[in-house]
Amino acid sequence: MKFFVDTAEVDDIRELSDLGMVDGVTTNPSLIAKSGRDFKEVVAEIAGFVEGPVSAETVAPDFDGMMAEGKELAKIGSNIAIKVPLTWDGLKACNHLTNDGHMVNVTLCFSAGQALLAAKAGATFISPFIGRLDDIDLDGMDLIADIRQIYDNYGFETQILAASIRTGAHVREAAKIGADVMTAPPKVIRQMASHPLTDKGLEAFLKDWEGTGQSIL
Ligand code: E4P
Repeated sequence: MKFFVDTAEVDDIRELSDLGMVDGVTTNPSLIAKSGRDFKEVVAEIAGFVEGPVSAETVAPDFDGMMAEGKELAKIGSNIAIKVPLTWDGLKACNHLTNDGHMVNVTLCFSAGQALLAAKAGATFISPFIGRLDDIDLDGMDLIADIRQIYDNYGFETQILAASIRTGAHVREAAKIGADVMTAPPKVIRQMASHPLTDKGLEAFLKDWEGTGQSIL
């Protein structure tokens, strides 16, 4: 499973990169607003040190606007994945941008039917939003499983990018189902390293070690 980081905070991305945890980055207009930085400037900085795909999202509602913005964002670097929403115009932009040789991430996917359309339109990535479905008492993981089955039935190469991840359990379940990629906030990735039994075990080992009076160095 590839790990993307869902943030526009450069320090977090650098820290996780040093641990080998970053295969790519996703941003969205809300994350850019939260960073308080200039959109193209921060995306260029991220795309400059992250080797994998860096998603940058268009904000125009119509096909022509998405095409113009997508082409502008693609100039930032060869690893930019242009993010378009799963609307009719977004699917059309996906198809045209893909045919022009760009990576496209189709975002805001909430049904398997939408995911099928994105694959037909040639999307590089489809982003089903797990957490937002869970928020309204639906099962985001069922959606990942349905898309996996449909894509495997027909050999679609569009990668399933499990998005709107809120917990380590989301990552684990998406991995079990076979999502190609997951994108999570840095906090969630860090939390995945914690386990109370690891802390308890380490404490006991160190206490016993102290009793030996030895040192390694
Ligand atoms: C994905 O590309 C989105 O940026 C993100 O996962 C949305 O997550 P949220 O539902 O926590 O805002």
